[in-house]
Amino acid sequence: MSLMKEVAGRKAVDYIESGMVVGLGTGSTAYYFIDELANRIHAGELTHIVGVSTSNETTQIAREKGIQVISLDQVNQIDVLVDGADETLRTFSGIKGGGGALLYEKIVAQNSRKVIWVVGEDKVVDELGAFPLPVEVVQFGSWKLFRYFEQAGMMPSFRKSGVDSLFITDAGNYIIDLHLGSIPQPNQTAFELNNMVGVVDHGLFLNYPDVIIVGKEDGELEIIE
Ligand code: A5P
Repeated sequence: MSLMKEVAGRKAVDYIESGMVVGLGTGSTAYYFIDELANRIHAGELTHIVGVSTSNETTQIAREKGIQVISLDQVNQIDVLVDGADETLRTFSGIKGGGGALLYEKIVAQNSRKVIWVVGEDKVVDELGAFPLPVEVVQFGSWKLFRYFEQAGMMPSFRKSGVDSLFITDAGNYIIDLHLGSIPQPNQTAFELNNMVGVVDHGLFLNYPDVIIVGKEDGELEIIE
């Protein structure tokens, strides 16, 4: 439970209007948005809302709360996507994927007219990279990529699920977290990762959100837009 996450997540519902196709993000902050969206639907304040989910986990949560969820390919475009982030600059770029949903999150974001990030104030940083950068890789040959990252000094670790098994994404891939410490040139890092065979995607979301809703510890809000 975190008040800063809750106030940010619930505030984002103010951007939703009846009849919209709504992108449903993943994680503990997006959870509050989904919960509030369901409250407004059940209260009759929002009608004809259709959700497009960014993960299997979110699909389950939204459906349990009575929100209709359909697949991305069934809609032309998403009106508003509300999602969390692990780190964000005030200049609308950040790191996502702490929950392992970065690939679907990025695909949904690319198909959204408006992207809103909801974060606690602890997520707002001056430089990216203290949070490990998730890189989603196909399973085949993933140890080769791991060794490459290791030799390049990028401090990789395979994302685990429990003690013995590796985390597998909704798309059936592994995640290698890069403990970079700082990412002084995010565009360059993104470019290099985008060009590696076997890398499906990475958690650098550069110039994605249109609005960042920041929840503060005392329950106050800051809107960056
Ligand atoms: C999921 O893969 C992530 O991108 C989440 O959106 C991100 O980790 C934020 O999660 P919290 O809102 O739980 O901090």
